[in-house]
Amino acid sequence: MKSVIAELERRREKARMGGGQERMAAQHARGKLTARERIECFLDEGSFEEFDMYVQHTCTDFGMEKVKMPGDGVVTGWGTVNGRIVYIFAKDFTVLGGSLSKTHAQKITKIQDMALKSRAPIIGLFDAGGARIQEGVDALGGYGEVFQRNVMASGVIPQISLIMGPCAGGDVYSPAMTDFIFMVRDRSYMFVTGPEVVKTVTNEEVTSEQLGGASVHTTKSSIADGAYDDDIEALAQMRRLIDFLPANNLSESPVLDHYDPWDREDHSLETLVPNNPNKPYDMKELILKVVDEGDFFEIQEAFARNIITGFARMEGRTIGIVANQPMVLAGVLDSDCSRKAARFVRFCDAFDIPVVTLVDVPGFLPGTDQEYGGLIKHGAKLLFAYAEATVPKVTVITRKAYGGAYDVMGSKHLRGDVNYAWPSAQIAVMGAKGAVEIIFRKDLDDPEKIAQHTKDYEDRFLSPFVAAERGFIDEVIMPHRTRLRIARALRMLRNKRLENPWKKHDNIPL
Ligand code: HXC
Repeated sequence: MKSVIAELERRREKARMGGGQERMAAQHARGKLTARERIECFLDEGSFEEFDMYVQHTCTDFGMEKVKMPGDGVVTGWGTVNGRIVYIFAKDFTVLGGSLSKTHAQKITKIQDMALKSRAPIIGLFDAGGARIQEGVDALGGYGEVFQRNVMASGVIPQISLIMGPCAGGDVYSPAMTDFIFMVRDRSYMFVTGPEVVKTVTNEEVTSEQLGGASVHTTKSSIADGAYDDDIEALAQMRRLIDFLPANNLSESPVLDHYDPWDREDHSLETLVPNNPNKPYDMKELILKVVDEGDFFEIQEAFARNIITGFARMEGRTIGIVANQPMVLAGVLDSDCSRKAARFVRFCDAFDIPVVTLVDVPGFLPGTDQEYGGLIKHGAKLLFAYAEATVPKVTVITRKAYGGAYDVMGSKHLRGDVNYAWPSAQIAVMGAKGAVEIIFRKDLDDPEKIAQHTKDYEDRFLSPFVAAERGFIDEVIMPHRTRLRIARALRMLRNKRLENPWKKHDNIPL
């Protein structure tokens, strides 16, 4: 027995060494943790249970029968985050560059199957060179198996990807089908084909960072939902994200202890909206002042900043926030921000997270850029997402809610449950200037008449009351009481049940 135990220890030790001391040192020299260190850092201390640490590849081409490393380039298993079960796989770059072989893929799919069966979130830590080149088609098959499971799990369990090194070729599409992708700045990059292929095919010369670094994917492509400075910060933030999320689409989000009174009033909100309707103000201030303890986990902070999306809590329960940001492009809806918010609303709806919408929107962005870029379809995504959502929907209009954008942003007409407006709200088909220029075109040469028409229009339409008289707004609320009004609305809606008609699936304008 003693010798068997010694053999077990020897094998475990060998497996834990991954690609060996030298490669582990090289990993550290690049400012990266190893796969197992990352897992230790992410999970509750001592909670990790590893599976398949002795698995080895079966490839015999190109002398691969002589290159055997236990674990085969990916560390898999499960553990807990603040006591809640999470499945995890971490690519081990020290073993053949974390490249994916048939057996490597089988380790991942085993974990995916277990996560789905036990309805718990799964997180993938990526640091790898794509398909194991020596295996060829076996690796392609392996990727396909992983992708299929990503799709089956989508909307059932949260799937999160954290890119911590290279993520190229076949490795990019599994993260792309998960709910969130985060990256580590300056150390990670994602692309389908790398700089060398790009040079050959298109003659462009780019670095990995320029092609697919965090600076690109958080601002231009919107592939990534956020980025952090190093491995430890990124892993700590992933723990924070997990705390906001339910284990699956049928379970509730965790209810956390909170020390922020639900009826806390904030009188500084009375002066948040400037008197001048064209002056911007920071919508984030409202978010931070309204939610529990000012704790806000922003999604896609650096992309399409004219809309803000992210998770927060009210009375300890997770909510999703969608808010126009008057500080950026006056909070206008364009293609990028519509896609960003639509995806977020759909995530919330899939996982039963109530959506709180804060509205100050002057309309859709005009111009050929937008129209050629498909604004109609992208805008429709957000409209569609709100309209199909059956979770509790609470909306507060702080200032402008003009035109089609009024309808889109969680309006009563898209089954908004509770729709509030501040006294400063202006709910209208368009702003006064635009309206007067259309309906009083004949008076355009007479500034006095135009000024009078503008004033008349403002007095009549630029208030919350025209909408409130029609029941489109349930109540005009005092800004300083926003937190308690939202908290009460969400409490009232806690047992909301609403079902859409049966269908195979909808046909959201992709
Ligand atoms: C086998 C690989 C590998 C791969 C890296 N390695 N990528 N082995 N298959 N795909 C090995 C290297 O041989 C090396 O082994 C070790 O991992 C570390 O790699 P380095 O190149 O020394 O590291 P670095 O300089 O940091 O460069 C990392 C890298 C580079 C940028 C990822 O390795 C690279 O370009 N790899 C190939 C990327 C690629 O083209 N992948 C295939 C994509 S095709 P030793 O023994 O020296 O330590 C694909 C199609 C699938 O994925 C599509 C499915 C839909």
